[in-house]
Amino acid sequence: VTFSDDNSRVVAELPTGESVEVLLYGATVISWKDASGNEKLWLSDAAKLDGSKAVRGGIPVVFPVFGTAPTHPQTKDLPQHGFARTSRWEFLGKSTSESTADNNTSANNEPTVKLDFGLSSGSPGLDPLAHAHWPFRFNLIYSVTLNPSSLTTSIVATNDGAEPFECQVLMHTYLRVNDITAIEIHGLSNASYTDKVDAGAAKTQTTTPLTITGETDRVYAPVEEAVTVAEQGRPKYRVTRDNLSNVVVWNPWTDKAQSIADFEPKDGFKKMLCVEPGAVGSWQAVEAGDAFEGAQTITLL
Ligand code: BG6
Repeated sequence: VTFSDDNSRVVAELPTGESVEVLLYGATVISWKDASGNEKLWLSDAAKLDGSKAVRGGIPVVFPVFGTAPTHPQTKDLPQHGFARTSRWEFLGKSTSESTADNNTSANNEPTVKLDFGLSSGSPGLDPLAHAHWPFRFNLIYSVTLNPSSLTTSIVATNDGAEPFECQVLMHTYLRVNDITAIEIHGLSNASYTDKVDAGAAKTQTTTPLTITGETDRVYAPVEEAVTVAEQGRPKYRVTRDNLSNVVVWNPWTDKAQSIADFEPKDGFKKMLCVEPGAVGSWQAVEAGDAFEGAQTITLL
């Protein structure tokens, strides 16, 4: 595993050629490439990578609130999607396992690299808005695990204080696609969802795969275990979740993309699809000393 850490980002490459790049700002995964160097995530050309704004693209981490929650006492004053994506995380270290020459046929022996990042109420890089508006003692560990066919991101949010808190967690993955009009999203059949482009109306998905033909912003509670993104009829990504009961599907389409300053190129919505596993349909109560854990795995098909 080749590895570099220049104090602002961590890059790791497997012996088989796949790579991942994580910005310490937000612990945002900003690149994930396969062995041929093909990028799997979408990153805006105008994304700020200097810590001045949450990254537009890659995988921002959403905590402790999804969107804004004006009626939720604990998080009502926090910025949209919370402060994890606008804080500078600490790189805690890496662990690797390499395939061995005498037994490299088993999948368990695939080369793997795991990068760990931390953010806590005591972190020097914590967004000042967290200090101002979220007075809890907490510790987050975010792990990014790469192996040849998949990327896993997992979070452990621990309550280090004496008071319980309530939080939401989401991994705001911007998947790269070639042509949004050729995409089908499977695995949402019969799922109930909130349609944020229809005033938050409660709806139920049919059994037809979801296609994207306009601005889409939906919070699903999927019934099925995996959401699969197919392009031109060919399965492309499988997204599975651990303890994350929601999946947000977002594409800004033409007008919304126009209105987002750091969304470039403006027709970039044709090249991206956000499939965002999270625990956002309700609040996760974390008692003093307890932790909430959740993870997503994106597998290349
Ligand atoms: C999605 C939300 O998860 O994130 C959308 O459902 C929102 O409503 C989108 O527009 C992007 O949010 P932001 O804060 O990164 O512009």
